[in-house]
Order: sequence, then C-alpha cells, then structure tokens
Amino acid sequence: MPVSESMIAGLIDLDRAGDEGLTARLTGQLRSLIASGRLGKGHVLPSSRRLARDLGVSRNTVTYAFEQLAAEGYLAASHGRRAVVTVDGAERLDAAEAATPRPRSGQPRLSPWASQLKQTDWPMSYLAPLKPLRPGHCDAREFPYEIWGRCLRRTAVGAAKRELGPVNRPRLCAALAHYLATNRGVRAGAEQILILPSAQAALTLIAAAVITPGDEVWVEDPGYPGAAAAFRASGARVTGIGLDEQGMQRVAGLAPPTLIFMTPSHQHPTGRLMSLARRTEFLKLSRPGKTWIVEDDYDGEFHYDSRPVPALQGLDVHGRVFYVGTFSKAMTPDIRLGYLVAPPALVSTLEIAQRHIGLIAASPVQEALAEFIADGHFLAHLRRMRRLSHARRDHLVGGLQRHLGDVLSVEVPSGGIQLVARLKRGRADQAVAKRLVEAGVVTRAISSLALGQPRDHGLLLGFAAWRESEISAALRTMASCF
Ligand SMILES: Cc1ncc(COP(=O)(O)O)c(C=O)c1O
Repeated sequence: MPVSESMIAGLIDLDRAGDEGLTARLTGQLRSLIASGRLGKGHVLPSSRRLARDLGVSRNTVTYAFEQLAAEGYLAASHGRRAVVTVDGAERLDAAEAATPRPRSGQPRLSPWASQLKQTDWPMSYLAPLKPLRPGHCDAREFPYEIWGRCLRRTAVGAAKRELGPVNRPRLCAALAHYLATNRGVRAGAEQILILPSAQAALTLIAAAVITPGDEVWVEDPGYPGAAAAFRASGARVTGIGLDEQGMQRVAGLAPPTLIFMTPSHQHPTGRLMSLARRTEFLKLSRPGKTWIVEDDYDGEFHYDSRPVPALQGLDVHGRVFYVGTFSKAMTPDIRLGYLVAPPALVSTLEIAQRHIGLIAASPVQEALAEFIADGHFLAHLRRMRRLSHARRDHLVGGLQRHLGDVLSVEVPSGGIQLVARLKRGRADQAVAKRLVEAGVVTRAISSLALGQPRDHGLLLGFAAWRESEISAALRTMASCF
C-alpha cells in the first residue's frame, strides 16, 4: 500500500541505531521502503526539515541519507526541492537486498494507534533534562516527604481493615469535590470524579470514550502536545486553533467539532486567561449536544496577583465539560495522580473504560492523599508553594528585565509555573533554545509547540521549580549566549 507523507516517519525505527549510526540506519530503512514498493516511483518525500523534526534527528542526518540514496540512484534530490523516488521497488529489489544491511530484528507491524503515537513522537522529544529553567515543573524538593510518608504508612498498614472495591476511593473523591468546589468553582458531586495516574491518562480515557476515527478535534495552537497526541492516536482529525488576547479563538465558518481541548485558566504555553465572553461562546457552541469541551486546569493552584478565575466547568449547566487536573504540579510529578471530573451522562461509561484499560491508581496512595488533604497538609503545602513560586516569578522577571531587557521582552503571568519571553529581534526561537541548552539552560521554544506552521515564537521559561540562586545563575549563562 502506498504510504502518505505523514506516515513515513512512523515506518522508520531509529531507536536501536547503535554503532550502525543514525544516518546509515535511516538510509537503510528508506532504501528498504523503496525496494519493497511502499515508496513507489514518483513518490515525493517529506522535506528534510519535516522528516528530521518528525524523527527527532538533525536535519543533516536526513540530508546525508537523501544524498546517499540519490548517489545510489533511488532518489532525485536537488537543493531547494523535495526528494522524489526514481525507481519502482521491483527494479531495485535485488540490488537493495544486497546493499541493505539486514536489520537486526524485523520491523514490527504497528497498529494505527501506535504508528500515530510514534509519528507524533510524544512524549520522547518533549523530555528535556531537568535543569534550570525547564518549564512545566514545580519544585519537588520542597514537598513535605516526611508528612506524606506518615500518611502513606498509616494507609498501607490500615489496608486490611479497608473495604476492597471502589477503584475511585470515596474519601478522596469527596475531599477533591470539596476542594474543587471551594477553590476552583467546579460544580460536581464526588461520584463524578475518577482518580487516574495522571492528567495524560484522563485525556487518553476521554479519547477512548468519545472519539470515533475521523472525528474533528480542536486544540489550542500553540498548545500542549500531549493533548494533540492523545486525540490523534485515537484517530481524530486534530485542528489547531490560533489564539488572541482572549485565548483560543472562536473561528467563524468552521462546523462544530466533536471535542475541543483547552486550558482556559492559564493557556499552555502562553499563560493567557480566556475571557468570560469567550468561555460563554464556547459553552454555547457545545450546547446543542454534539461538542464536548475538555478543560485542562493543569496549574490552576498557582495564582499570585489576584483571585483565581473559576473553572469553565462551573459555568456549564448542560453537562458538556470534562474537567481534568493533576497533582504533578501541586505536589510532585512522581506521585502519579491526576483526576477527571466527568459529565454526568458519561460517568458510568468512563468507569467501565477506566477498569477495562486499567487506568487505576493504587488504593493506599489514594487513601494517603485523602488523609493528606483532610489533615490540612495539602492546602498548607499549596500556600507555601504559592509564596515561593510568586517570589521566584518576580526574581526571574526582574532578572530578565535587568540583564536581558534589550533582547527579550517578558510577559508577566498572574499565575502558573512558567512564563513567556519574546525575542525582540527575529523569530528564531528554536535556534536560541538550542544555543541555550548547549550552554546548560533548558527552555522550550514556543514554535516547537505548534501543530503546523508556527503562529507564535518565544521562549517558555520555568520559574516555580528553581531556586532564586539557580535562576540567577541561569540568567548569567543566558546573558552570555545573546
Ligand atoms: C497543559 C498540561 N496538561 C497536562 C499535563 C500532564 O500532567 P500529568 O503529568 O498529570 O500527565 C501537563 C504536563 O506537563 C501539562 O503541561
């Protein structure tokens, strides 16, 4: 079967390049795809830039592979034009078999779900070293492990007396329902809450429950890549919707999709707050009952300058909003707990799906968290982290303005754990991020979070996870890189 442009990267496996080298392995695999006829005569390959991005390798690796195959007569490749396959598989099969080093093991045939995930490369290329100023993290070093350990011990020891059974522990669901109602304006009964190993698990569960392959899903662009990956893997057509000052845009003329994913309280990555008018427009769009909204409130606990804006879910009276949260930021990522507040009509379906897929969090950990919340430790920890992160935000903003003010302009977020700094000259945020990581400072280029052609540029810098001394050192390094 011929292969579409977007599928090529999914058919290439560079994981075990070993001493064979990336270029040799890529060359060999492209050669095999041609020889087997999967890339037929006249097939136009993706640009070297796109293939490099999809595979997570340097552009040079792809360019060398194309040049080698051109020299062997498989491709026509010239500067500035896309490479084209010049032979039919059968013509070259014998030669290819002779020329291709036998793969150490056969290429496994993957499901469309796994191919999509590999192609999106989520989360592999997203993982950067955990060093200042990597965004997306809170400071796990500040977590009260002693207290948490005591809660865990008590609930582990008390397990024998506890009722086995409920996957979503009622004590934790009740504590969460109360916390979300009083702190985030979420309107839900405890029975609507599912406890999961992460927010990402919630997205996978939602996709499994409501997406039929071919359905349209809208996501913010730039946005959180884990969401696009989860919905694409389930077969959805994912469309990126640009942002304006009010958040995700309401684009006229597009038919309502099956699902809209958004981060209205603190847009990931720009930090923008969705206006009330825009929230109301999206809720109206969902009202006829065809469109679901997924609200990801990943860092809603962190707000500094004003009272937090209540969740969109609290405005929904028609049961069309899924509310997703995580303890990765408010506690520590390795606690592996997130949650989903389900629309009433989907609770039982989602519970069946949760058990079926096995997205179940360990009961003693759930019970320990219920105790941690009930005893006031969770709110106390949040208050402390808010104070700390507030000071760190101000430290980073002040330092950026003082030392890098001529090259970067800072957008000061009123909440969250990271901020955006725009390049005053040019739009080469990926080149700048690369230079910085080579110098030891981890940032994320906003354009790397685009779905297609980037609409936005800048650097995403984390502050909540880093001590003021670490932020100062990173700023000194950054100043030497411009
Ligand atoms: C916007 C957003 N949503 C969800 C998540 C995932 O959270 P979890 O670790 O619970 O899967 C992240 C993590 O970085 C995020 O940035």
